Amino acid sequence: MATSPDKDASVAVSEARLWQRHCEMAKLGATAKGGVNRQALSAEDIAARKLLASWATSRGFSVSTDAIGNLFVRRAGEQNDAAPVMTGSHMDSQPTGGRCDGIYGVLAGFEVLEALEDAGIRTRRPVEVVAWMNEEGSRFPVGAMGSAVFAGRLALDKALAVRDPKGVTVAAALAETLAAAPVPRRDGLGGPVAAYLETHIEQGPRLEAGRKTIGVVTGIQGSRRYAVEVTGEEAHAGTTPRAARTDALSAAVAIVSALEKLMEDPTDTVRFTVGRFEVFPGSPNTVPGRVYFTIDFRHPDLAVLDERGGRIAAVAAAHARGCAVSVGPLTDVPPTIFAAPVVDLVRDCTARLGLPHMDMPSGAGHDAMHIATLCPAGMIFVPCERGISHNEAENATPSDLAAGCRVLAEALTTLASR
Ligand code: HGY
Ligand code: MN
Ligand code: MN
Repeated sequence: MATSPDKDASVAVSEARLWQRHCEMAKLGATAKGGVNRQALSAEDIAARKLLASWATSRGFSVSTDAIGNLFVRRAGEQNDAAPVMTGSHMDSQPTGGRCDGIYGVLAGFEVLEALEDAGIRTRRPVEVVAWMNEEGSRFPVGAMGSAVFAGRLALDKALAVRDPKGVTVAAALAETLAAAPVPRRDGLGGPVAAYLETHIEQGPRLEAGRKTIGVVTGIQGSRRYAVEVTGEEAHAGTTPRAARTDALSAAVAIVSALEKLMEDPTDTVRFTVGRFEVFPGSPNTVPGRVYFTIDFRHPDLAVLDERGGRIAAVAAAHARGCAVSVGPLTDVPPTIFAAPVVDLVRDCTARLGLPHMDMPSGAGHDAMHIATLCPAGMIFVPCERGISHNEAENATPSDLAAGCRVLAEALTTLASR
């Protein structure tokens, strides 16, 4: 049972300390425009791992990692062999990322551990904060990688073999990271986990527009990510007639235009993005021989994902213009519905704290989509300024971040006492 000699964990949450930690973390990979570039297993990510571990050990929490580089901070429970309650998110960022995406979930979880300590609250179960490795998938293009491996949805060896654009494997980068920021390795991979809660900025405009402080997240839309390779033939730009060209760029542009047509949706619910587009050899006077681009396709309805996702390869082939085209699946995550008891608990804790709130689905993907396959899971959203995210202007207020953390503190205390 949670024993609270003097106050509730939410009362012990410190807005100033939580904001200060965000400011400290924002220095790691800081960009000129006020954002962060802290990509997975980079020097900046290593610095963030070291900083979190130093904060944790100074409060007497234990730190460990697993075979895919997830980082765990654990506060013991009275029944320390009981399955832990987990919270967390990710510390890696987009190349032009913001100071809240992901890191807020890690720091809010850490603030709850500190608040439990400060309030002298013992919980039956251990409480663990996790920084999941490579959620963004911007450097290593398989996103939510650490949580997918932890949940058994992605094989460890497959994950370790994924390469970044320079050809560096996750395995090599992870070895470097763990050598630079050594922490004890925990046995095995995965659970058991009693329950999981993740706090995150909404990354959209609805909470701010609705003047709500808390989003009670009901689920996450489904997503599919593909890598497309278009292979033609390099040729001289000055001497090669159009009829003799197998131009990979011209084919890739035709393919993307045809896919945009396939993804047209008058309800504007389909999300279709070509985020990476690389032309080889990239010389002004050589006809491109190869183009690599990614597709990020999302929708809340599995039938739409199946129907339109199932047609991508055929549409690409039909516009190949004599090139060879391969469409390789990178990730395929079905829509997630969070467990009603956890969603209800988040809503009850929010109401008890007197915070304006609304139920809402998540358009963005999160590690919770994988952990929800292991245990009852849910998410808590807070507003971000003008809904901006995956952008250096991303921002949130200290009071909103603290409000989400207070809801997390109440909900985790309840879950860790069951
Ligand atoms: O792509 C996503 O939805 C997440 O923000 N990484
Ligand atoms: Mn995120
Ligand atoms: Mn993100």
